[in-house]
Amino acid sequence: KIIYVLNGPNLNLLGKREPEIYGAQTLDDVRAMCEAAAAPKGLEIAFHQSNAEHVLIDWIHEAREAAAGIIINPAAYTHTSIAILDALNTCTCPVIEVHVSNIHKRESFRHHSYVSARADAVIAGCGVEGYLLALQRMATLCADA
Ligand code: DQA
Repeated sequence: KIIYVLNGPNLNLLGKREPEIYGAQTLDDVRAMCEAAAAPKGLEIAFHQSNAEHVLIDWIHEAREAAAGIIINPAAYTHTSIAILDALNTCTCPVIEVHVSNIHKRESFRHHSYVSARADAVIAGCGVEGYLLALQRMATLCADA
C-alpha cells in the first residue's frame, strides 16, 4: 500500500526557515523518518514537495488512483486553497492533515483550514514528529479498510 506524503510551499526550506517555529530538521530528514517508519508497517511512501498549487493538485489526482492514504501539510495553502480542498474531496482514501507548528497558537489568519473540512484527522504542534503520528494513524485506518 502506498501512502502519499505531500508538502506545500516553503517546506523545502524546513530546518533553515524560522527554526524557532519549525525546528532544525530538514524535509529530507522527514522523508527518511517517514520511510523508516512505513517499512515495518508494510507501507510504501510517495514523498513530494512543491511550491506550486497546481503541482500539489496533480499529485492529489495521482493519489486518487494510486494511494491507500494521503498525509498532507498544505503549508500556507491550508488557509487559502479551495482548489486543494476540492481535489482532496475527489479522493475516497483517508486524508490526514499535518502542521509542524500549532496553527491555533499563531496569527488568526492561520486558525482556519480549508483542508480540515475533508481531513479525517488533524495533527498540529507536534513538530516533525507529527508526520510519524499521522503515519501511525494511517496504518490503523488502512488496516481497518
Ligand atoms: C505550516 C503552518 C502554516 O500556517 C504555514 O503557512 C506553513 C507551515 C506548519 O507546518 O506548521 O508554511 O503548515
